[in-house]
Amino acid sequence: MKFSRISGLRGELAVPGDKSISHRSIMFGAIARGTTEVTGFLQSADCLSTISCFRKMGVEIENQGSRVLVKGVGMHGLKKPEKILDCGNSGTTTRLLSGILCAQDFDSAVTGDASIQKRPMNRILIPLTQMGARIRSASGNGCAPLIIQGSPLHGIHYQSPVASAQVKSAILLAGLYAEGETRVTEPFLSRNHSELMLSHFGADVRTEGTTAIIRPAKELYACPVEVPGDISSAAFFLAAGLLVPDSEILVRNVGMNPTRSGVLTVLQNMGADITVINQNSRSSEPAANLLVRTSRLHGTCIEGELIPTLIDEIPILALTACFAEGETIIRDAAELKVKESNRLKVMAEGLSSMGARVQETEDGMIIQGGAPLHGAVIDSCMDHRIAMTFAVAGLCADGDTEILGAECVNISYPQFYKDLKNLA
Ligand code: S3P
Repeated sequence: MKFSRISGLRGELAVPGDKSISHRSIMFGAIARGTTEVTGFLQSADCLSTISCFRKMGVEIENQGSRVLVKGVGMHGLKKPEKILDCGNSGTTTRLLSGILCAQDFDSAVTGDASIQKRPMNRILIPLTQMGARIRSASGNGCAPLIIQGSPLHGIHYQSPVASAQVKSAILLAGLYAEGETRVTEPFLSRNHSELMLSHFGADVRTEGTTAIIRPAKELYACPVEVPGDISSAAFFLAAGLLVPDSEILVRNVGMNPTRSGVLTVLQNMGADITVINQNSRSSEPAANLLVRTSRLHGTCIEGELIPTLIDEIPILALTACFAEGETIIRDAAELKVKESNRLKVMAEGLSSMGARVQETEDGMIIQGGAPLHGAVIDSCMDHRIAMTFAVAGLCADGDTEILGAECVNISYPQFYKDLKNLA
């Protein structure tokens, strides 16, 4: 896929549904009593992996496009899958599903693609084992495939070394089935979609500071889920609207959960002209329309508690910083090394190959803005957010930018290139 410099991105779009919320709607719907109606569901490879795993455990899921009906089987109604469950490229599926499987009265196994089989799973194996789970890495390297023998669990208070919603959610889901209360304390608050949605489904879950607390449930009860647009997908259009000259884009129905909207705070701190219009609360999650116009930006520092609120947006923020006046420092972001690719390395190398002044550090990047970018051949490393970031980069660079493995946007945003083209 090739991109070259343009000007004047204009028009409006609604980005597809939030990936994190879509996954959870299927998982929680599956173990609830009654039928959960999900609207705005993200039809992407990752979320389809979640649907496929639960179908293999006897859950009837009617996928009608943007509406999905999950016929819940109750907390103890899942059936033993005949084969190993394939989570594809999805870390959220692998980790959250493992939390549920540990507590079932059957044995199971989960795996995923080559990228998933390299991602760290000790971060869930350790706390789940402390809860009494019998879960192990098949090859003993702390990665999937994971072998799970269902067993009784008990609550713990886990001090998580990482701010990770996947870790927190795996523990909370196991905690639903455990004896006694389960607590997870994080260094900084990560996205709280699980807490919000579980509470809607009737679970006894609450938050105190950066600690999430859950009590065991007898049952969860189906309730409708309206999935707002994914701010992580919207971020590519916010950046494109800011960086491409003479642009004005309205992005409709973007999820505005404060544990996710750090990208907006940072862009506005950098001088971005982004107006929040019609903020409203759908279901348990707020949403708004965002109007973005081409802006002059200045450098900033992105660190600390902000990091989990924009963890998936750091690649596109790094690109944006290349066009800002002065220096941008990103730190406390070592988690990026264990995402779908090593995003610190891949971003620093890719941006440098386009002429940007970027230095990779141990836990982030230092970017000197203002160097003009030129086209390059960029390997997406089959990481969807890398492909989309460099597509936007190509629109702001001299010459051609070619993206290898561009089709990996299917993971979170299958119609990304079409939506981008419609604005051009
Ligand atoms: C997600 C949590 C984040 C994020 C991922 C989705 C979730 O991962 O990067 O894209 O749905 O809980 P971590 O929890 O590992 O930080």
